[in-house]
Amino acid sequence: MSLNIVVLAAGQGKRMNSRLPKVLQPLAGKPLLRHVLETARKLNPKRLVVVYGHGGEVVRETLDDTDLVWALQAEQLGTGHALRQALPFLEPVLSTLVLYGDVPLVRPETLAALMVAASADGLGILTAQLANPKGYGRVLRDARGAVRAIVEEKDASPEERRVTEINTGILLLPTASLPRWLENLSSANAQGEYYLTDVVVQAVEEGIPVRAVEAACQWETEGVNDRLQLARLERLWQREEATRLLRQGVRLTDPERLDVRGALTCGRDVFIDAGCVFTGEVTLEDSVEIGPYCVIGNARIRTGAKLAAYTHVEGAEIGAGAVVGPYARLRPGTILSEAAHVGNFVEIKNSHIGAGSKANHLAYVGDADLGARVNVGAGVITCNYDGANKWRTVIEDDVFIGSDTQLVAPVHVGKGATLGAGTTLTKDAPAEALTVSRARQTSFAGWKRPEKHKG
Ligand code: UD1
Ligand code: CA
Repeated sequence: MSLNIVVLAAGQGKRMNSRLPKVLQPLAGKPLLRHVLETARKLNPKRLVVVYGHGGEVVRETLDDTDLVWALQAEQLGTGHALRQALPFLEPVLSTLVLYGDVPLVRPETLAALMVAASADGLGILTAQLANPKGYGRVLRDARGAVRAIVEEKDASPEERRVTEINTGILLLPTASLPRWLENLSSANAQGEYYLTDVVVQAVEEGIPVRAVEAACQWETEGVNDRLQLARLERLWQREEATRLLRQGVRLTDPERLDVRGALTCGRDVFIDAGCVFTGEVTLEDSVEIGPYCVIGNARIRTGAKLAAYTHVEGAEIGAGAVVGPYARLRPGTILSEAAHVGNFVEIKNSHIGAGSKANHLAYVGDADLGARVNVGAGVITCNYDGANKWRTVIEDDVFIGSDTQLVAPVHVGKGATLGAGTTLTKDAPAEALTVSRARQTSFAGWKRPEKHKG
């Protein structure tokens, strides 16, 4: 079924108390509007129009996807007026689905059900039954139960306000009738706005079939008007994500303490402890264990690798059986091979660490290539930056780097070399030899410490 989709996103969102436009506020790490657009695309619309507001240039810049048509609503005169701005961009022979930029969780299945229920030239309303319908437009029905109108709360009589069936705002409309209906809207109501909902009365008068479809889950149709609602929806989203992972066999210490802000793919028997945050695309292969409070972005973690508490990973690959953390930081371009060990307060950037190599304590490894079975002692630093350029350090297999060694790049350490503790390496170190740069140790017998002056 081909259709037009219009996303209304021109509202200011005053109640967010934020400089960021409401539809750009993030939910699960992604702007609200992006959630709606991704849902919309799943319905394969012929046209995807976003009605954006005055000063909403930042919205356009943030979401500059090429399939979008932008319709400016310079003044926010109501939802009916907003849809009017989109009219020139719609295919008249196709139905038009109206979505809201601030209703991010509606599911494509629900929208498909709405399309099935409303006949091709009819009007469909997505509704919900709410125990507390306060603030919403109410669905009014006639004696036979047919939908008669939608009345906004501010315009409703006390009796109408008792109706618990509400308009979620999501409508499916016959596009050919829209120019006429929208032209006829009046702003003579409690809010002085052109209400899109007033097209319902017109459809009824013209004998056009109107169908109401109830959303499958109530949370799908919840809107975001303030930070409280946004936080609530964030938790709803995360709970869904945790449920998906648990069903699939992932062991979570606490499904309430997991945050996935992107796509997390897990193999079998994965364990994730409390408080972890995943961003971007993360893959955890079979039997991976993630300790508490790890932050992991855009990473692949291979079979059986273990991350201890407070490990921070961004743009890295961790080899099978590797052991990382606690308190390790793997920055973009880090590749740990099989069974590598990276311990506390070790930072690695843009480096390849060979199989079985270890950097267990307090080190910085940047722009380096380490072979297999290299031992990096405590306090080792690759001095990769000369103030202007970055240089690489190459360390071959089976090298032992003593503690507190600085490797001033570009520098090369041959296979099997040993660097003595405290060495400042400015020239290449030959294979299989001990290289050490250190002032000779001297002792002064009978030397006395200075004493404090008296009086
Ligand atoms: C609207 C519905 C109400 C429904 C409720 C569901 C109307 C008249 N009322 O009320 O029946 O129960 O949504 O949440 O439609 N917008 C624009 N331009 C405007 C005004 C609004 O783009 O001039 C956009 C907003 O950005 C928002 C959406 O339309 O995404 C809804 O606007 P809002 O003012 O929040 O409508 P409600 O009063 O909540
Ligand atoms: Ca609203």
